[in-house]
Amino acid sequence: MQMKFIEDIQSVFERDPSARNTFEIITTYSGVQAMLFYRLSHRLWGLNLKWLSRFVAMLARWLTGVEIHPAAKIGRRFFIDHGMGVVIGETAEIGDDCTLYHGVTLGGTTWDKGKRHPTLKNNVVIGAGAKVLGPITLEDGVRIGSNAVVTKPVFANETVVGVPGRVLSDKSEHLSFDAYGVSNDNDPNVEAIKSILKRLDEIENKT
Ligand SMILES: CC(C)(COP(=O)(O)OP(=O)(O)OC[C@H]1O[C@@H](n2cnc3c(N)ncnc32)[C@H](O)[C@@H]1OP(=O)(O)O)[C@@H](O)C(=O)NCCC(=O)NCCS
Repeated sequence: MQMKFIEDIQSVFERDPSARNTFEIITTYSGVQAMLFYRLSHRLWGLNLKWLSRFVAMLARWLTGVEIHPAAKIGRRFFIDHGMGVVIGETAEIGDDCTLYHGVTLGGTTWDKGKRHPTLKNNVVIGAGAKVLGPITLEDGVRIGSNAVVTKPVFANETVVGVPGRVLSDKSEHLSFDAYGVSNDNDPNVEAIKSILKRLDEIENKT
């Protein structure tokens, strides 16, 4: 648990350009504080101290604005930037090196018991305010735009934006993390289509 929490802190330096030192991160980053509470409550859940673990999770919500069910499974180097308004449901599963911004919900769409929350594989980035709902899987390297609502599975390295979520483009060459999930890469196919549409516009405007 201690090692995982240290890794959580280290991941902040890579993903938040404004992070200055460890003391500042521990004392002022509510997303990091929420993870400390989660690592503890998840351990308690595993020890079958169910009420206590939920009580710790509730304290975390009061203090950080982040609600993570203790039974949720979260991998290594997980970072919640800004924190407030994040909800992660009981059967959510999150791989390694994932990042969520404020206002993200990993929620369910049914009251049935059993798996009802999303699964995030590795290196997934979910933008501010996005909702990912149901027992769907977001494969490695998926990026979800801010305020998107996603209810369908997403293939590896795809970017999804809007309501309902639609795939923006295939970023299969995109392997490293970008703060804010934004890339400077230009997909040549998208660029080609854009220039054709622009040219069509120009021709139409002339006639
Ligand atoms: C979705 C996202 C990952 C796309 O990044 P990108 O691959 O660099 O894409 P671009 O910025 O080139 O945008 C491509 C197109 O998608 C649109 N788009 C981008 N983000 C969008 C969003 N959240 N919702 C709807 N459309 C969006 C752009 O307007 C652009 O449209 P166009 O081709 O018609 O001009 C990024 O915009 C995003 O939302 N990241 C999350 C950032 C965040 O939450 N930050 C919080 C910081 S506190």
